[in-house]
Amino acid sequence: MGPGVDAALVRAGCLLHDIGVYRLAPVDAYIRHGLLGHEVLAELGFPEPLARFCSHHTGVGLTRDDVRRQDLPLPLGDYVAETAEERLVMYADKFHSKSTPPHFVSAAAYTAAVARFGDGKAAAFKAMVAEYGEPDLAPLAAEYGHRIV
Ligand SMILES: [Fe+2]
Repeated sequence: MGPGVDAALVRAGCLLHDIGVYRLAPVDAYIRHGLLGHEVLAELGFPEPLARFCSHHTGVGLTRDDVRRQDLPLPLGDYVAETAEERLVMYADKFHSKSTPPHFVSAAAYTAAVARFGDGKAAAFKAMVAEYGEPDLAPLAAEYGHRIV
């Protein structure tokens, strides 16, 4: 994880970042789960650095321009991972999907998927792969019985 990275904070972020999914109404766009999760944790009195894992983990980061250009159902703002811990949680999140059935996602597959939101998104993800390396998903796929896409 690199020097100075708070492993306990990363672990907490991994456990909490999708908690907003439980607050999604049937009519809500899935992309709102990050903001809803931030609200849940804030209401419960969790500190801002924990709540931010929810609102700052989507894709490779949502900018104000993304919100405007894609007409996303979010308040106009930047939702980009900033701290080392936020960036790690955001990055790790890209390698697994909760879709039915749940599956692991290779770097190549995620790169192809995120490219539909713009070449800059694919480039940003590729830069993170170069920075952090690609995780070996095979042992996880075997352990959890999820295929790798
Ligand atoms: Fe999420």
